[in-house]
Amino acid sequence: MYSIQTLQQAVPRLLAWFQREKRDLPWRRNRTFYTALVAELMLQQTRVEAVKEKYVAFLERFPTERELALATEDEVMKAWEGLGYYSRARNLKKAAETLFHEGTPQTWVGVNALAGVGNYTAGALSSIALGLKEPAVDGNVVRILSRFFADPSTADDALKAKYVDLLRAVYPDETADFCEGLMELGAIVCVPNGPPLCENCPWNALCLAHQRGEEEKYPVRAPKKARRVETLDVYVLTREGRYALRKREKGLLKGLWEFPNVSAGSPPPCPCNILSKRTARHIFTHVEWHMTGYLAETCEDGGFVWATAEEIERELAIPSAFSAFKCWLK
Ligand code: ADE
Repeated sequence: MYSIQTLQQAVPRLLAWFQREKRDLPWRRNRTFYTALVAELMLQQTRVEAVKEKYVAFLERFPTERELALATEDEVMKAWEGLGYYSRARNLKKAAETLFHEGTPQTWVGVNALAGVGNYTAGALSSIALGLKEPAVDGNVVRILSRFFADPSTADDALKAKYVDLLRAVYPDETADFCEGLMELGAIVCVPNGPPLCENCPWNALCLAHQRGEEEKYPVRAPKKARRVETLDVYVLTREGRYALRKREKGLLKGLWEFPNVSAGSPPPCPCNILSKRTARHIFTHVEWHMTGYLAETCEDGGFVWATAEEIERELAIPSAFSAFKCWLK
C-alpha cells in the first residue's frame, strides 16, 4: 500500500512548491537553534497568526538563551501571557538554561532530551536548525500522508511512527525546506478544517485520495473522548483600589496569577459583598471550565497578593481562562 517510489517523486515537487509559495514568517529569518526552539515551542498547540507577534516581542525581550536562562519565572510568564499552555514557557526557560550551560545539542536524541521537546518538535528542530534527516510528524503531516496513500489505518501514534520511517527513507538534503514544506502544505493546502485546496497542491497528481475524490475520508479518526467539565466561582475581590491575586501552585496553569476561585457553590474565599456577576467558559484540551465570576468588595486581607490594575497589566501574567473578568479591573 505504501509506495516509496511515489513518495520519492513527491519530494522535489514539494521543495519547488515551497520555494514559490512559502509564507514570510518571522522565525524563518535569521534562524539560530535558540530562535527555532522559541518558535517551535510557541507553535505547539497555537496558531501561526497568534504566535507571530508574540514571537517577535519575546525575542526582543530575550534575544539569546543567555537572557532567557537568567530571567525570573515571572518575567518569562509575562512575556508568554495570552499564548496559553504555560508549561511550555517553563520548559522553554529550562531548555534555554541547558543551551546556556551545555551548548546546543547536535543529535536528535540530544534535542529530544530538552525540556518541552517531544518527538515531533525534536524532528522539527533537527531538520530546521541542525540539517539532520529526522522527520517531524504531527497531526498535520498525518493528514497529508494518509490522504496521499489513501491510508485506512486509524490516525494514532503507531501511524505517526510509520510515517516517520517512510519520510526518513526519502528525506532530501534540504532538510529544513522539506520539513517546513510539509508544515506549509498542511497549513495552506491540505488544511485542517474543511475541504483541501487540491487545485493548489504540488502532490495532486500523485495523491491517491484525490484521484478517488475521497480526500475527506482521511485521516480515519479514533473516537474522541469527552472533555471533563469543571464548574468554578471566580472572585475579583477589590479592597482600597487593589485586587486580590494568588499564584497557582500546581496543574496546567502553575506559576501564573489567578483571581481567587472555588468550586461552584462553595463559600467565597473570604467574606465579601458582591457588586456584579457574569459567566464565562474556557476550553482546554481535556477540560472545560464553566465559570461564574463575581466582582466583590472586601475588608479582609485573606492572605492574597493585592495589586493595582496597572501593576497587573504591567507585571503579572493572568491566564486567558480568566480574561472575561479582567474587564472589572479599573
Ligand atoms: N508549525 C510548527 N512549526 C512551524 C514552522 N516552523 N513554520 C510554520 N508552522 C509551523
